[in-house]
Amino acid sequence: MSYTIKETKAATSRAREYDINSIPMGIAFTDHMFICDYDNGQWNNPRIEPMGLIPTHPAAMALHYGQAIFEGLKATLGKDDTPLLFRPEENAKRLNFSADRMGMPEFPEDLFVEGLKKLVAIEHNWIPKNEGSALYLRPFMYADEAFIGMRAATKYKFIIMASPAGPFFSRPIKLYAETKYVRAVNGGTGEAKAAGNYAAAIRPTEFAKAKGYDQVLWLDAQNFEYIQEVGTMNIFFKIAGKFVTPNLNGSVLAGITRMSVIDLLRDKGFEVEERPITITEVKEASTNGMLEESFGVGTAVGIAMVEEIGNMDFTIKLPKENPVSKDVQDTLNKIKTQQLEDKFSWIVPVELNSDVEA
Ligand SMILES: Cc1ncc(COP(=O)(O)O)c(C=O)c1O
Repeated sequence: MSYTIKETKAATSRAREYDINSIPMGIAFTDHMFICDYDNGQWNNPRIEPMGLIPTHPAAMALHYGQAIFEGLKATLGKDDTPLLFRPEENAKRLNFSADRMGMPEFPEDLFVEGLKKLVAIEHNWIPKNEGSALYLRPFMYADEAFIGMRAATKYKFIIMASPAGPFFSRPIKLYAETKYVRAVNGGTGEAKAAGNYAAAIRPTEFAKAKGYDQVLWLDAQNFEYIQEVGTMNIFFKIAGKFVTPNLNGSVLAGITRMSVIDLLRDKGFEVEERPITITEVKEASTNGMLEESFGVGTAVGIAMVEEIGNMDFTIKLPKENPVSKDVQDTLNKIKTQQLEDKFSWIVPVELNSDVEA
């Protein structure tokens, strides 16, 4: 379907106020945002507006009952500085999966991708050129009906914002294997990208950081045995030559980097198992010298090597060399910048409209 997206341009650009090639993600926002309103059972008035505040009623239901979901992806520059999106249709599908779990309306997937393209085309001057830098895109949806009472809202907003993200040179990370708090239970909301999942993870993450770790490694809620994922990443282990990643069992977010890395590893000739894996299996593999590599994967960091997993009771040290992880990281980065052939058709180029200033 083709949509008319109304454009109201900002009077001036703030891009020159920032060093977009080195600014950390999430601090600066570009000049425009994409907005669409849901009312009377349909999405209305898709538009690009100058970035700014949005009036919010204190009874907006997202603030009380937490109907809020989000996505994250990056725009990079490819050959001839063409802006590129990485698998945006997967983010559109996952947003709707989250919407379904949270009792929220679906957002049309083609409009999701069109909104992203339109915003990135207008903001292409904000895409950093440094290696490893990108324009982070944050589509999200929340309930903005003013009502007090426990039911699904009837009014929502869908917005896409963009924030330049300087190079993220991921250093090896230490993970705290959490045995008090849990992130997800079967039947819960762990497999949705719902704001509340992150709210519940903030204190445990602070505690883990205070103990010298970078992120939490979440374990299952019954026995604290089965590995789920890391704070904002899925996790892989290389054990005796094979890769293992926890299967999507309802308590794990279906990461888009995860699914891409599985394809890349298989393409490179590795066996990849998606199956339940316990922390005991990882400890034993380490003791037997079979634990060869481990890394977390996600949009924000790409691939982050794991150097240690532990808590008050144990410490697993990972080997310092991560040849396969590094190779996969390099391949993924090069596909995202068109330095390597995109044989999986993951890249979506963004056409710059003739009315967009170069
Ligand atoms: C809880 C969680 N797991 C995994 C991921 C990785 O997902 P993706 O690769 O789609 O960024 C993220 C990041 O969005 C996350 O927040």
